[in-house]
Amino acid sequence: MVDRDKVAGILDEYRAEIGTKSPKSLAVWQRNRTVMPGGVGSLFRLADPFPMVVSRAKGARMWDADGNEYLDFMLGFSTMILGNAPDEVEAAIREALPRGTHYGQCHEHEFEFAKLFCDMVPGVEKVAFCNSGTEATMYALRLARAATERPLIAKFDGGYHGTHDLLAVSFGRPRPTPGLDGPIEDPVAVPESPGLAEGAWKDTIVLPYNHPAAFDKIRRHASRLAGVIIEPVQGAAGSIPAGPEFLSELRRLTREIGAFLIFDELITGFRLSPSGARGFYGVIPDVSTYGKVAGGGLPFGALAGTAEAMRLMEYDVNMESCILVAGTFNGNPITTAAGTAVLRRLSNEPQLYERMNAMGDRFRAEINRFAQEQDYPAIAVGAGSMFWMHPTRGPVKSVRDAHKGNGLAGAGLRLLYRKNGLHISPNHGFVCAAHTDEDIARLIEVHKAAMVELRERSVW
Ligand SMILES: Cc1ncc(COP(=O)(O)O)c(C=O)c1O
Repeated sequence: MVDRDKVAGILDEYRAEIGTKSPKSLAVWQRNRTVMPGGVGSLFRLADPFPMVVSRAKGARMWDADGNEYLDFMLGFSTMILGNAPDEVEAAIREALPRGTHYGQCHEHEFEFAKLFCDMVPGVEKVAFCNSGTEATMYALRLARAATERPLIAKFDGGYHGTHDLLAVSFGRPRPTPGLDGPIEDPVAVPESPGLAEGAWKDTIVLPYNHPAAFDKIRRHASRLAGVIIEPVQGAAGSIPAGPEFLSELRRLTREIGAFLIFDELITGFRLSPSGARGFYGVIPDVSTYGKVAGGGLPFGALAGTAEAMRLMEYDVNMESCILVAGTFNGNPITTAAGTAVLRRLSNEPQLYERMNAMGDRFRAEINRFAQEQDYPAIAVGAGSMFWMHPTRGPVKSVRDAHKGNGLAGAGLRLLYRKNGLHISPNHGFVCAAHTDEDIARLIEVHKAAMVELRERSVW
């Protein structure tokens, strides 16, 4: 039986050590709070016990305001696949800067960027640029609804697709009131924020991830379903991959009922393979959304698909037959320069993926072997260079499985990662091309040491 008071005291001890090691981060965040809501630019930067304030980042490393060095496995929420501040991106930005940071007009450097998408990703013939993943998934839904003239969109329980009202339901955050999410076979849409327009998400239905009941629910709604959006590997839910057969059946069924299949490749795009989840799984959706890696570390989003799927985006000046996609900063010249530099390197060096994916495999294999041999209720999951260790015996095939994990152990693990020099998001980790075998060995070592410590101190 876990002594909760004793455990709370141990976690507070770790928090205090983090406070002692990084007083400047705490002070800067507290100062931010006087002028910024929550003191952070994005809710997901909040961390226990306080956000890290970064002073600089290079390669696989990052330094906080107090000068502490961290091995970076967060990588700007997956974005920095070549490592932080890659030389080729810096050079591309320097080259582009003197021509101006923004025109709000066409320019000569969009073509190569868009062409790289078309050349690298099977089934992509047209790319529409925007500025974030949130915008990209919003446009994907608009396109699916316009093309099919149907009202409903299906998303998966635990899937995160950005913050707009259409999809800000059922990310799968643990609920203070269990049971709100409905049965696992038939999840209900749970708004993730006050203030969402009910009219925006009432036509969003929620499907169980990696569960055959998803197909029954799709069939039940077939005649009204415009599209199904899925993260081929759920990121924020804890690096949970869809089964290959599950994705294949989803492709078959959406085609059969005439609904769009939308891959949200914000994380998997250009990460799992040069062609993202499409190449990794061998499944081609109607359209995919992109951002993160493809923007080279600058704000970016994109929607891409066949010319046929993207037909309603062929603008005409009368705006009669095309869907509304517009943005002051779309195709910004600095973003296209940075993104082109990254995609060019990934396209020229596909062997980078073998290395990164092997490092992800090594983490999973070594942690799972250790957990099994030492009888820890822990399982490492993920795909390719996306990884995470859940404090539960598993299997972890959905966010509901992830919630079975030991919450106190999870909190302890996160605090120990930070205390011991790992920079990693609270629910997923990423490998980049700048990581070395020694870095992965260190990642594994910190995980194992944290597991041992938490057991020795009866936290887990
Ligand atoms: C799978 C997925 N989709 C969409 C988004 C939203 O992207 P952005 O934060 O650029 O709006 C994210 C961001 O983390 C994501 O992981």
